[in-house]
Amino acid sequence: MGGAIIQSRDLNLHYGKARALKNINMDIPERSITAIIGPSGCGKSTYLRCLNRMNDLLPEVRITGSLLFKGRNIYDPGEDVVELRKQIGMVFQKPNPFPMSIYDNVAYGPRIHGVKNKSELDSIVEKSLRQAALWDELKGRLRDSALSISGGQQQRLCIARCLAVEPEVILMDEPASALDPIATAKIEDLMRELKEKYTIIIVTHNMQQAARVSDRTAFFLMGELIEYDYTKKLFENPTNRRTEDYITGRFG
Ligand SMILES: Nc1ncnc2c1ncn2[C@@H]1O[C@H](COP(=O)(O)OP(=O)(O)OP(=O)(O)O)[C@@H](O)[C@H]1O
Ligand SMILES: [Mg+2]
Repeated sequence: MGGAIIQSRDLNLHYGKARALKNINMDIPERSITAIIGPSGCGKSTYLRCLNRMNDLLPEVRITGSLLFKGRNIYDPGEDVVELRKQIGMVFQKPNPFPMSIYDNVAYGPRIHGVKNKSELDSIVEKSLRQAALWDELKGRLRDSALSISGGQQQRLCIARCLAVEPEVILMDEPASALDPIATAKIEDLMRELKEKYTIIIVTHNMQQAARVSDRTAFFLMGELIEYDYTKKLFENPTNRRTEDYITGRFG
């Protein structure tokens, strides 16, 4: 596939003896939204965590095959994981702002990466909050605790915090599952805007959400990638009967 920013080649992951990913081959195009769907325990989060090497820390994890980010193997022993996570950021299921001010949450990553200048930090904070569609709501409250804002605002703040270090890929593991429909719609609108510049990979249990926001959808089942196609094709005319059974609610 031309323009693939991430390429998985025969990717396998074992947790001890249990094989959680089986020969995953998947090319993810840049500047698009890819949704990963499938029943609980099928390996969605495991796959997402592989992409920024969040599984490495766990004992007993064994990974084979390769995972290429812009053509380089991110499991290469020489890979700088801190730098990788700057380029491939992650937003989690539950909003997890740090217990500090709104401003400091967004400035956190840039500061770690060496930005000290106040006016430079100010402009990164403003830009990131604007990109996350939060600036107008929060510009008067930058010194307030991030824990004092609503859950939906906290999740957009976590997206702003992720954007502040200018990643290329944003991984989202069920980013809206703790949110109400209005906050969810805001996150979805935001994703549509962000895909102009970023590659987004979202795990979701909500098939309507996958159908609404994504360009491509991958269906996982018991650690296998069963079907991966344009979202419209996968939902309207799936090739595999197991995909059809899942999306029509016959199992899962
Ligand atoms: N740290 C771990 N140690 C051992 N096994 C794990 C670990 N994390 C996940 N697993 C197992 O790997 C399999 C895939 O889990 P994973 O969390 O990737 O599923 P998922 O598709 O994200 O599920 P859900 O939709 O419930 O979040 C499951 O059988 C799970 O129990
Ligand atoms: Mg999961």
